[in-house]
Amino acid sequence: MDFFSSDQHFDQLYPPAISALASRHWTPIAVAKEAAAFLAVGSNTRILDIGSGVGKFCMIGARFHPHAAFTGVEQRDSLTQIAQSIAHELSLTNTHFLTGNFTDIDFTQYHHFYFYNAFYENLIDNDTIDQTVEQSPELFNMYNRKLYKQLKKLPAGTRIATFHSSENEMPSSYQVVGVGTNEDLKFWIKL
Ligand SMILES: C[S@@+](CC[C@H](N)C(=O)[O-])C[C@H]1O[C@@H](n2cnc3c(N)ncnc32)[C@H](O)[C@@H]1O
Repeated sequence: MDFFSSDQHFDQLYPPAISALASRHWTPIAVAKEAAAFLAVGSNTRILDIGSGVGKFCMIGARFHPHAAFTGVEQRDSLTQIAQSIAHELSLTNTHFLTGNFTDIDFTQYHHFYFYNAFYENLIDNDTIDQTVEQSPELFNMYNRKLYKQLKKLPAGTRIATFHSSENEMPSSYQVVGVGTNEDLKFWIKL
């Protein structure tokens, strides 16, 4: 089966409880393909997915851009383990999945970034992935501020694709240069 041909096929790779979360929490294939095409420019490009979940964005990017490296950082180790195991099953050699908080990552090690509203779960009471991590409006604000600071330090030309972003995390030095077919996908470049 070509798992990359539709979301229905790709999401079958995951355990049922994880694929049940797909429509709400994991990037659709069409969005991932457009975002990855915007980010995987140049040669040997290193891309970071900030809050990588079960690795769907990274794996789709890696499949269609074999010369770029896709790293995901994810706070829930159980999700990182699933991403690693499926990347192995798909024989992808250009994905890396790390467990941790994005606040501990050195962003200067990456060229371009993907961000699917990872902090929103701090603002909602239901429909979250699980209850294994602390969630609060204070954390939402703190993570937004930390991401803003990290992004501000990056060099001109840095690209970010955001999906369903509140845009509070985007410093004014980043300009929207395009919108995806799905209008919740936005393309930014640092001036
Ligand atoms: C909306 S999901 C997107 C997953 C993946 N990027 C995708 O598009 O398929 C956001 C993920 O970010 C993770 N996350 C939230 N806050 C985080 C933080 N501070 N550090 C690392 N991961 C975080 C959540 O656990 C969740 O798995």
